[in-house]
Amino acid sequence: MAEIRDLSKHVGESVTVRGWVESTRGHGKVAFVVVRDGTGIVQGVLVKSAVDESSWAAHGTLTPESLVAVTGRVKAEARAPGGYEVELSSLELLALAEPYPIQPKEHGVDFLLDNRHLWLRSSQQRAGLRVRAEVEQSIHDFFYQRDFVRIDSPILTGSIGEHAGTLFETDYFGERAFLAQTGQLYIEAACPAFRRVYCFGPTFRAEKSKTRRHLTEFWMVEPEVAFNDSAANMRLQEDFVSYIVERALERCREELKVLERDTSKLEHVKPPFPRISYTDAVTELQAGGSEVKWGEDLGAPDELKLMETRDLPLFVHDYPKAAKAFYMKENPADPRTVLCDDLLAPEGYGELIGGSQREDDLDRLKSRIEAEGLPLDAYAWYLDLRRYGTFPHAGFGLGLERTVAWITGKHHIRELIPFPRLMNRLYP
Ligand code: 4AD
Ligand code: MG
Repeated sequence: MAEIRDLSKHVGESVTVRGWVESTRGHGKVAFVVVRDGTGIVQGVLVKSAVDESSWAAHGTLTPESLVAVTGRVKAEARAPGGYEVELSSLELLALAEPYPIQPKEHGVDFLLDNRHLWLRSSQQRAGLRVRAEVEQSIHDFFYQRDFVRIDSPILTGSIGEHAGTLFETDYFGERAFLAQTGQLYIEAACPAFRRVYCFGPTFRAEKSKTRRHLTEFWMVEPEVAFNDSAANMRLQEDFVSYIVERALERCREELKVLERDTSKLEHVKPPFPRISYTDAVTELQAGGSEVKWGEDLGAPDELKLMETRDLPLFVHDYPKAAKAFYMKENPADPRTVLCDDLLAPEGYGELIGGSQREDDLDRLKSRIEAEGLPLDAYAWYLDLRRYGTFPHAGFGLGLERTVAWITGKHHIRELIPFPRLMNRLYP
């Protein structure tokens, strides 16, 4: 049994390939079948006079996505999809598929999402998910090469990681538990053990918004580094994002072609990225007619407006305290603000990263937790980190699906996760 990706090594030889039927056609004495085996696609050619009767008859019954085994001689053929052709000596039908719901025509996105378990087989979806897998691998490689230790953070948690607004709550043997919005608090605890750490896993937000940028379950990678300040944190972010983009350009050429991505928009993504303070961003937005007032978080329209004239990711740093999470460090130069940054993507993909230096002062952290209306006792363990050798540290969280959407140029992030969870979607 050969795999289609290896056919170049078998030119002139007879091989057997097993896979799913993408399409068939025939005219009289010659027939074709395009087979996909998960490693590639190849066209099989049947000449009626050269195959046995049962193979010829089997071809006539094939339906899209039927499973077949095809045997024949491999030939290089530039015009065939994949670049090779198999001159079949036999075709065996292994599993006949029922009429396949996804047709080569325009389907509505709801229909495609209802059939996500089948839609995964389509070429654009395969390309997008391969890019995702490459990005995941490049994330691990980046941190591995820099001596970070991967720390797996819990998914069930009693301490709210970000804010009370978007929690999935569950009963935990009589106690209130939440699905983690972030792993950050836990990896902060691992810094004194390993200095450089990261977690990477699913996170959960009960987002009631139906936008192209929101999922209720999404993957986030979160590094945390002892002794990094906010400036070092941003340098790590620009190196990290540039590395991921470079890897995708290097290793996903074919996929990006299938996705018709204009890669010239990515090739110049290299550090340093421009930086603008929140305060200057508000001034720029107001000058452009925005109603935003100093003190409010930037909404999606403001973020998009800022990126209209920019083609590199942009750091917006030092937001007002009230607009951001409780754990961010007060800015000594302007205590109305915190030492944080959002990294905004070009082309309308919104916030890729949220990061900050962490509040390392015990009393200030306590009062921020109380001011947010969060229960202090749930943070006793987290406050301990400020009691036993408190240390400056910073980290960030990058949303995987938004990043992959930007790299692939797909409009909506739901196509960049195998089984998206959205407000109205729990199946398949
Ligand atoms: O800015 P956020 O909320 O930051 C945190 O969770 C911090 N604890 C990270 C840290 O400092 N360790 O989320 C980080 C990123 C966002 O910039 C965005 O890319 C993504 O996570 N994100 C979402 N992606 C898809 N769907 C959602 N509902 C998302 N919410 C956030
Ligand atoms: Mg954020």
